[in-house]
Amino acid sequence: MAPKVTPAPNVPFFTPAQSTPAGTALESNPPTLFSPLKIRDVTFQNRIWVAPMCTYSADNGHLTDFHLVHLSAFAYRGASLTIIEATSVLPNGRISPQDSGLWQDSQIAPLRRVADFLHSQNQKLGIQLAHAGRKASTCAPWLGERGKATTATEDVGGWPDDVMGASAIRWGEGYPKPREMSPQDIQDVVNGFRDSARRSVEAGVDVIEIHGAHGYLISSFLSPISNQRTDKYGGSFENRIRILVEIIKAIRGVVPSTMPLLVRVSATEWMEKQAAESWDVESTIRLAKLLPSLGVDLLDVSSGGNNEAQIIAMHNDCQVSFAGRIRSALFEAGIKDLLIGAVGMITEAEAAKAIVENGQPGKKDDTVQIEDEQGSTAKADIVLVARQFLREPEWVLRVAYRLGVEVQWPLQYGRGQFLEGSRI
Ligand SMILES: Cc1cc2nc3c(=O)[nH]c(=O)nc-3n(C[C@H](O)[C@H](O)[C@H](O)COP(=O)(O)O)c2cc1C
Repeated sequence: MAPKVTPAPNVPFFTPAQSTPAGTALESNPPTLFSPLKIRDVTFQNRIWVAPMCTYSADNGHLTDFHLVHLSAFAYRGASLTIIEATSVLPNGRISPQDSGLWQDSQIAPLRRVADFLHSQNQKLGIQLAHAGRKASTCAPWLGERGKATTATEDVGGWPDDVMGASAIRWGEGYPKPREMSPQDIQDVVNGFRDSARRSVEAGVDVIEIHGAHGYLISSFLSPISNQRTDKYGGSFENRIRILVEIIKAIRGVVPSTMPLLVRVSATEWMEKQAAESWDVESTIRLAKLLPSLGVDLLDVSSGGNNEAQIIAMHNDCQVSFAGRIRSALFEAGIKDLLIGAVGMITEAEAAKAIVENGQPGKKDDTVQIEDEQGSTAKADIVLVARQFLREPEWVLRVAYRLGVEVQWPLQYGRGQFLEGSRI
């Protein structure tokens, strides 16, 4: 009898089942980058994730065909997790009027369409839940003057009079003036994260990331520079992280215990030289130590974005080295159940490989190697990559090829893997 095509299970359309997800190593003992990682009940076939990227292409918060095509392109070519862009939990938490959102039930169906497609390819979908805080109501970056923000006024769908932040401090030129959030505003945001998490689960999303970085709402609460409140959400470290803790608890209360939960932070707001007190790597380490007991599985380590006056000492490895510092501080404190994600300027196969090499094979594994000061072992458990995927959607397959690792390709693309008999 001729072989029969097996349809992908549990999706409302026909496509051939990819029983081995693209991006899976087909050899034993691959480098850590191509070894699987299980977080709670979700197994990732490799350590390469697509970082969230705003595309300013949503229709009143609803994902569109653009998102389906854009996100799927990375996922079916082997990224083990594709994270949807900052998705606002309230209408006034969008960066631009065209941002994605999950503040109402009508936004579930287009999200489910993306989840169904990724699942049909045996791949995983994440979503970054966010509130833009005082950086809301701006225009898409390709509009206005290059490199400068432009306030989205009401006539173009903006809400400049309903922008809110930890304190009434404008982010900078081109941004609306925010109001200081009332206790009710804070409660609405916490409830917004909770309800959006519930909708994400309903849509079939596999992983949730909380956006606590880049000067958006949560990030602006963490910093003593942007948060000058005198109530229980400002002042001490415990008070400044309170909104994040409340959001984490609210989300954990509505998502299954089998679902991984990630938090992205700016490891530093790059204000060490300009301010006596700021959110710095030590603050992030202090926060990181609290996260596992709250049910957070991975800290995604970014930086910057909270102050116009930031002085970024950027070099290719700087964010990756923050990840390594945080990871080794956790290990030194005996905390082994918070995974670390590194992001930022990871573009080369060898660099990606080195970042995770010999890292822990899974949570709570005592065989982990502790990174030394020279960074001779893993700096992170996962690499997240943004812009390189825009340049090369097939980056996972390229990295595998460059490292000499044989991986599964999408079945339909198998003939593209070979040129005159040699693998390319
Ligand atoms: C077009 C674009 C949109 C982005 N949107 C988001 C976002 O929605 N949420 C977020 O946390 N970071 C966002 N970022 C930052 C990326 O996730 C990533 O941290 C950053 O680009 C550094 O990684 P890279 O060097 O691999 O690009 C965005 C970056 C780009 C280029």
